[in-house]
Parts: sequence; C-alpha cells; structure tokens
Amino acid sequence: DLDSSADAAANDFVTKLTSQNKRIAIFYGSQTGTAEEYATKIAKEAKARFGTSSLVCDPEEYEFEKLDQLPSDCVACFVMATYGEGEPTDNAVGLMEFLDGEDVQFSNGSSLDNLNYVIFGLGNRTYEHYNAIARKLDARLESLGAKRIGERGEGDDDKSMEEDYLAWKDGMFEALASSLGFEEGGGGDVADFKVREVADHPEDKVYRGELSARALLGTKGIHDAKNPYNAVVKEARELFVEGTADRTCVHVEFDIEGSGISYQHGDHIAVWAHNPEQEVERALAVLGLLGKRDTVIDVESLDPTLAKVPFPVPTTYEAVFRHYLDICAHASRQTLNNFAKYAPTPEARAKLEKACGDKAAFQEAIGHRCLKTFEALQLIVGDDLGGDSVAKATAWEIPFDRVISDLPRVGPRFYSISSSPKMHPKTVHITAVVLRYRPEAAGQDSPYVHGLATNFISAIKMAKNNEQPSGPDDPRFGTPGYDLAGPRGAYTKESLFRAPIHIRRSNFRLPTSPKIPVIMVGPGTGVAPFRSFVQERVCSAQKTCDKVNQSPAEALQDWGNIWLFYGCRRSNEDFLYKDEWPEYASKLGGKFQMETAVSREKFKPDGSKLYVQDLIWERRKELAQDILDKKAYIYICGEAKGMAHDVEEMFGRVLEEAKGSAEAGRRELKLLKERSRLLLDVWS
Ligand code: 2AM
Repeated sequence: DLDSSADAAANDFVTKLTSQNKRIAIFYGSQTGTAEEYATKIAKEAKARFGTSSLVCDPEEYEFEKLDQLPSDCVACFVMATYGEGEPTDNAVGLMEFLDGEDVQFSNGSSLDNLNYVIFGLGNRTYEHYNAIARKLDARLESLGAKRIGERGEGDDDKSMEEDYLAWKDGMFEALASSLGFEEGGGGDVADFKVREVADHPEDKVYRGELSARALLGTKGIHDAKNPYNAVVKEARELFVEGTADRTCVHVEFDIEGSGISYQHGDHIAVWAHNPEQEVERALAVLGLLGKRDTVIDVESLDPTLAKVPFPVPTTYEAVFRHYLDICAHASRQTLNNFAKYAPTPEARAKLEKACGDKAAFQEAIGHRCLKTFEALQLIVGDDLGGDSVAKATAWEIPFDRVISDLPRVGPRFYSISSSPKMHPKTVHITAVVLRYRPEAAGQDSPYVHGLATNFISAIKMAKNNEQPSGPDDPRFGTPGYDLAGPRGAYTKESLFRAPIHIRRSNFRLPTSPKIPVIMVGPGTGVAPFRSFVQERVCSAQKTCDKVNQSPAEALQDWGNIWLFYGCRRSNEDFLYKDEWPEYASKLGGKFQMETAVSREKFKPDGSKLYVQDLIWERRKELAQDILDKKAYIYICGEAKGMAHDVEEMFGRVLEEAKGSAEAGRRELKLLKERSRLLLDVWS
C-alpha cells in the first residue's frame, strides 16, 4: 500500500542520505534543544570544511535497523544528551532500547562491522551519571563492531559546554578527514535559510508566540513538547515572608481544566517563557530592525535535512525575539566570532575577533560578566548597555538568516510539580526560587543575570498582585518589563496571564501501598515534589478514614512512616508552605514525621551549620529500621552538587552503622539504587 511504502522511505535514513549524496547522518538525543543545536553546528561546519552535506536526524523518526547499511565512506554522528538520573532524552529512548536488546537485529545481521561513527555527549558534571548515555552508546556501538573515528567528546553543561565542544570538534573533523578521506576546502560559509519579508499576510495566520499550528488555529489535540498548552495562570503568590529574605520564591498554579492534560505526583512541568521587553528592544536595535518590528517574515530552509526552521512561520521580527530565539542566554564565543565580520567598523571587528580568539581572551572580555549576545555586541562598540539607551544601540548589519542560524531557540524549563492531582485535579502547582545573580568576577557595577523562566513567572506574579519594585536592588525586581498580554494580545484581563506548558512523566513515584514507609529529603525548593507526595497520602488517608469511619490515628495504624526532612534558612523567612504542614500532619494520624533544619538559626554545638543530613543522623535508628526491615523508599530532591551528594553519603553512614561495616553499608546503598528504592530528582 502506498502509504506505508512512503513511510518506509521517510524512515530510511540510508536511502535518504545516499540519494542526496550526503555522507554524514547526525542523530541527536535532545530534551530542551541543546543537543539538536550542536547537531546542526556539526552539520554546518562539515559543510563549510568539506563541502559535505549531512542529514540531521531526530532518532524518533528513523529506523535503526539500517545502521549496518551506511556505506563505509559515510559516518554516523551521535550527539546525545543525558537527562535526569542517567536517562536518555525522550526522543532517544527508542534508539537506546533498540541497541540494548539482547539479540539486536539489523537489516543484514547482528553486527555493525561496517559502521563508522563519531560521538559527542552532553551532560552535567554535578550529576552522578555524567554523560552516561553517550558513554553507554559508545560502548554498545563498539561491542557491536562499529568503529569510532577520533575521540568521544563530552560537554559539561554545568560549566563549559561550548568550550568542551570547541576543544573536541577540530580533532574530530581531522580524524574524519584522515580516516574517511573527507577533503578539506569545501563549501565555505553558506547560508542555511532564506528570509523573505512579506506584505499583506492574513493577520490571523501569523505566529506571534504560538508554538504550533494547532495553537495558532485553535484546533484540539494532545498537548506535548511539540504542542504545548497555553495555560492560564490561576494564582501566583510570593512564598517568602515579605521584606525578610533577599530572594523571592513564587508559588504558581496553572489552570489545566478542559485541556485534556493529566499529571501524576512526581512529574515535571515544562514552562515556555518569553523574553523581557528590554532584551527584545536591544536585539531589534542592534540589528537595526526597530522600524520593522511588525514586518511579517517567512523563513525557508535551504536544506531542511540539515537545518530546520527553528520556529513556526510566518512570524514577525519582534515575535522572533520575544518568543522564539533565546536572546537571554550567555553569549557564545563561536556565535560572536561568526558575527564579527558584520561589525559596524573595522576596529570593532578586530576587537571582537580578538575577544573570541581563544577561551581565555573570551573569558576576560565577555564571559566573566555572563553577557548576553546583543549586550556583548554593544560592549564591543562601546554602547551603554542599560535602561533607555538600549534603543540607541549602534546597528550591526548581520543578515537575519545568520541570526537565525547562530542563536539558540527558547527551550522549555522544567519544574518539579508541587501539587497532587488527587487534591488538585484542575491545577498544576510549581514552587520556584527566582534566579537573579551578579557574576562573581564581574564586579558591583555589572548588570544582574536573570533566569529567563523564573523571572517571567515572577513578572506574572507581580502583575497579578499589582506589586511594584522599589528599585533595581529590590530582590523582586526581575528583568524590566515583560509583555504579559500573551500571543496577539488576546488576554487583556489580569486573570488571564498565560504561559505555554506541557507535562513530562517521571519515575519519581510513591510506592502504591501506604504501608511502605517513605523517607523524603528536600531542603529549599527541593520540597516541591514532596508537597505533592504528602498531599497524595493525605487524600488516601481521608478515603481510608471515611470508609471505615474512624479517626486517622485508628484508621492508619498499619501505615508506614512518612518522613520529611526539610531545610530552610530561617523559620520566619523562607519556610515554604509553613501553614500547610501541620494541617497535613493532623490528617495523617501521627505517621507524618517532619524534621526541619533551619540553617541560619539553629546550629550544632560546635557552631557549624545544622543541615537535613544531620537531622537524618539524629533519627538514624528509626530510619535504618524503616529501610532495612520495612523496605522504605528514599527520595532526595534539590540541589545536586552539595546537598544531594552529602545526603546520599549520610544514608551510607546510617546503613554502615546499622549493618556493622562500611562494606555492608555500601552494598545496601547500592542495592537500594538498583531496586529503585533510592530515587533522585536533582538539579544544578
Ligand atoms: P545555607 O544556605 O544556610 O547554607 C535550602 O537552600 C537550605 O539548604 C538552606 O538552609 C541551605 O543552607 C541548605 N543547604 C545548603 N547546602 C547544603 C548541603 N550541602 N546540604 C544540606 N543542606 C544544605
């Protein structure tokens, strides 16, 4: 039948590659878009160096059985992010499962003897399973007989992703040249996109922030990463006690009623934020496009298998900067280097090229201040970066297709959901500290760096509550000015502030039986999923009590303990959901054991800080009993590098003492992990 044969051809990357005279198939495992961007970077540089075109592939869309049929003068390139606790990204699950199968069958057998590959991993060193997926895939391909060209590259998203990539790629390209006969001196720097300004486009068909055709046309459909739901923000309020803390933490409730979206405790919600007005102005000004902000543009990819148009079109210059391109990300050395030739003066060009010359020069000129792309361009020509002067920025004549090629896309930001669907079926709650900092090395007069999504959320909170910042040092003062009206200004009532969202499933779940004890450790906003967990248990408890018509103390006698180790700085400043916990406790009949470390209020006898792990040590006898005799589940959520690491180590010590030796303690901890009874939801 015609349909399936057309599908088969569409899924067949080998035929696609060879029929188009391409030699590189680049697969990306990407969750928020970064790995995909690096895949495109590799494709573009391969073209510039060798004149060779690549096929950039979302692994979800192709048949891996064909991996053994890639001709021997071609190469498969894998650009793989590791997500969460050593997991593949959603779009790479199929690929990893396929290759992991016991008797994996390719089209012509079970070996990959003919396959050449290169591999670059994206990971984060603050996590335990650093680059686990790239390493695993590398080992697996090798064991199947495939031949790796050059070294495996690994990028660290915590610190040095771009520099890690730059340090790896030249060796990789040289290895390709020497092993597979790719010849240097190819296509040079060619455009990826054609940008056309169009007059008289029907207004209702222009994307102004919508992320999918369904969103634009208002048609129904499942909401996922490719079609997020534009949710109304039902409530947004401050959680820290006003006027005490120098930080701000926002509780947000997204309305999902009627959306068809469902969620479970432990899931994550993705929030698609947009850029603040000042940065939109800056981008338009630096590119000399202030007068054309509403001009409708259409963008076409000159080679769709190499680079997809990264946002829906037609759209406007302004919408591109407000909604689609991440103009708030730290400037990339490679991007600025690419822009240097469009500098307004030869001096500026020389200055920028020098600043991008190597890692150290870049760090010194731009990197240490964490400047955004267009701020960096302003700095190079001596523009004033702040306030009203933004609109007067010196214009750079950077072709718009270059801007699209070189700037990253706005990706979703993920938050641990802090509500239970049993208690709140119609809303999804998040608990987010608003990120704002001044880079350590930058000095006091340097601009603040603002986290994109948390400041967007903070702006919604302030607007909904009619709050005004008292000045630039007010901790609630996010990046100035957001357009909160939503796509095409349709939501003018303050009750209708919106943000596109979708849900990401997780395996961070309670055991089904409440008889099994749970030990939750979540200082700071790490408590978010545990508010959801406790609400889950409260709802079950209520049901049980109603059924047997008894009080919680009577009805829940055979329940396991519900431990919550929480930490904050001060009990009257940043104690999250302080009023709610006693209420939950009263409904859990003495099974809820909450211990709070107030780290700047109560100290250890020697004067050092008392943290959650110290409270765990104090209760070690009961905890060990719950873990060893009652098969308790342990959950750790929050900051990865310090806290999660220290807490895990403390559980090791607790088990060591209970089992009588360090060796036995370690073994027990390992077992807990293998059996998925020690679960982490951590971030850096
Ligand atoms: P501190 O800021 O006083 O050092 C939430 O952020 C709470 O976690 C705060 O009380 C914070 O204490 C504490 N915290 C910081 N580092 C930690 C660590 N390594 N282990 C446990 N708690 C930590």
